[in-house]
Amino acid sequence: MNCAPGAQVRVFEDIGSLSRAAMELTVSLSQKAVAAAGRSTIALSGGSTPKKLYTLLASAPGRDAVQWSQVHLFWADERCVTKDDSESNFKLAYDSFLSSVPIPAENIHRIRGELGPSRAARAYEDDMRRFFGGASIPSFDIILLGVGQEGHTASLFPGSSALRETTRLALPVYLKRSRRDRVTLSLPVLNHAASVLFLASGSAKAEAVAAILEGGNAHHYPAGLVQPPHGQVTWFLDREAAGKLRDSARA
Ligand code: 6PG
Repeated sequence: MNCAPGAQVRVFEDIGSLSRAAMELTVSLSQKAVAAAGRSTIALSGGSTPKKLYTLLASAPGRDAVQWSQVHLFWADERCVTKDDSESNFKLAYDSFLSSVPIPAENIHRIRGELGPSRAARAYEDDMRRFFGGASIPSFDIILLGVGQEGHTASLFPGSSALRETTRLALPVYLKRSRRDRVTLSLPVLNHAASVLFLASGSAKAEAVAAILEGGNAHHYPAGLVQPPHGQVTWFLDREAAGKLRDSARA
């Protein structure tokens, strides 16, 4: 089984052009959501790959193209640390662009990792249910995701029981290798997104990217399980991350 049917694959020369294209699509989708519904909901990825995209949102033209007062920001996952900890995904976004844009504080839906994994997951789920309303699975307009060398995404790792979750929106996760607690969006939420943008850069990701996009066993990888039936998945790759693909669209 290949990855999300209809997934788009776009390959760029480098992280700079990849990030510009991903930023442009994010802005365009956000503008469309605001025009259609008066708001846009975006879940941000952690990790280092999206940093360039985030910095592009801190200045023109990206910064001025976003209707910040109608944008609501969430996170795909967070480490259970304080918001000023260098490992915090919130801090990554804050330092990269959040501190430079006119987004109302109440539009920032931070995962409060400092509460510890279980309480933080519950609090985040409560926040999402309050914001999106009802018991159904929320549908984010945009979810930005990265991918790990072994195919993880958000904080959903191969073999994790979190991958079997069908009803909860946010889950506590313990990573043995780094002895770190995290909170992650669940697969049902990722698979209810209207648009998922995967960003992958560097040769270290090439194996996982090829296995997910062309390997035939996408479901062996958490990132390959992100197949929103009513959403569009777009992969933004640089040439190195696309290095093991047999055939992919060129940017
Ligand atoms: C995190 C991310 C994680 C990340 C991948 C890729 O909190 O670390 O959610 O899923 O996207 O590990 O990380 P890099 O972008 O740093 O390679």
